[in-house]
Amino acid sequence: MKIPLLDLKKQYALVRAETEKSIRDVLESQLFIGGKYVADFEEAVAGYSGVRCAVGVSSGTDALLVSLMALGICRSPLDEGPADEVIVPAYTFFATAGSVWRAGARPVFADINPDTYNIDPDSVLSKITPRTRAIIPVHLYGQCAEMERIREIASARSIAVIEDGAQAIGASRDGVKVGNFGDCACLSFFPSKNLGGLGDGGMVLTNDESLAKSVRELRNHGMEPKYYHRRVGGNFRLDAIQAAGLLAKLPHLDAWGEMRRANAAFYDSAFAGCPQVRTPRIDPRNRSIYNQYVISVGNRDEVLAHLRDMEIGCEIYYPLPLHIQECFKPLGYAEGDFPNSEYAAKHTIALPIYPELEKGQLERIAGAVAESAR
Ligand SMILES: Cc1ncc(COP(=O)(O)O)c(C=O)c1O
Repeated sequence: MKIPLLDLKKQYALVRAETEKSIRDVLESQLFIGGKYVADFEEAVAGYSGVRCAVGVSSGTDALLVSLMALGICRSPLDEGPADEVIVPAYTFFATAGSVWRAGARPVFADINPDTYNIDPDSVLSKITPRTRAIIPVHLYGQCAEMERIREIASARSIAVIEDGAQAIGASRDGVKVGNFGDCACLSFFPSKNLGGLGDGGMVLTNDESLAKSVRELRNHGMEPKYYHRRVGGNFRLDAIQAAGLLAKLPHLDAWGEMRRANAAFYDSAFAGCPQVRTPRIDPRNRSIYNQYVISVGNRDEVLAHLRDMEIGCEIYYPLPLHIQECFKPLGYAEGDFPNSEYAAKHTIALPIYPELEKGQLERIAGAVAESAR
């Protein structure tokens, strides 16, 4: 029987009544932009994450872009001289670096820690220049980056820190949740995320009220008061229907997280006797939410072919590191610049980890990997 990489249908069955009721409510109100559901959802996520402010936006990508803009990292057509620099990992989803480019700043890549796949603070340190304005550590696959070292590097030089928490709502380090480590943090509610919407959505979390105010203005064309613009913003608003759907799911998020951790623990023990399968290493200070469970194997093509033959969903996150993407060629990087990122791109496979997986399915997946990995 086919096992997809992600199956949202069972999750939907659990929240169907509440979701449909809330959406009907939005439809009856005919208020689709802003309003009660957006405000309630912002308050609920702020409470959940233990932060002072939460601002709903149109996607995780726009959360990154609007955060850069709010921090003043945004080139205008009148600016002269060299661009601001923002340090990002070479191994992450494209949006981390793409949003820096779109803000008119230069993405400066750093390598990752080969154990956690998160940005390596030593590599960050080696990339600092007088033009570095921000660092964007990514909490990849749902595990926090080494935030205390990143903060130390940044605060000694008055450099901003934007957490890319697109894959990591509720993940914690030393008991502190994502959103409390940087100047701000960006969340994504893309449907495949642990808290997935009915389409695109995102959020900026911060403990800095004036930064939150800037994000609120900039998500609505920098408009304050109506039709007056001190700064150029954009349309980065979160829809009421998205907020309504997400609000119905939020109360289940922790239970789903526990189920994901239980699935991860199953895989960890199933692969304990298979040294050819490298399981995810979670820093003991971290509590991962396992947005993905990513293994590394020496013979990836064979393992992928076997999983496909057995109709088991899997994915490569990500097959080409960002420093060698075609669009970033003008930045002058070359293959070999970031060996850990390049190794990860060649050897990793994400396995199904969604909460509703059954024991028999987990056994079948683990068995298929174990019998094909070399
Ligand atoms: C690490 C990372 N950053 C940013 C994003 C962008 O989020 P969105 O798809 O909501 O724009 C994603 C989502 O896929 C992501 O995984």
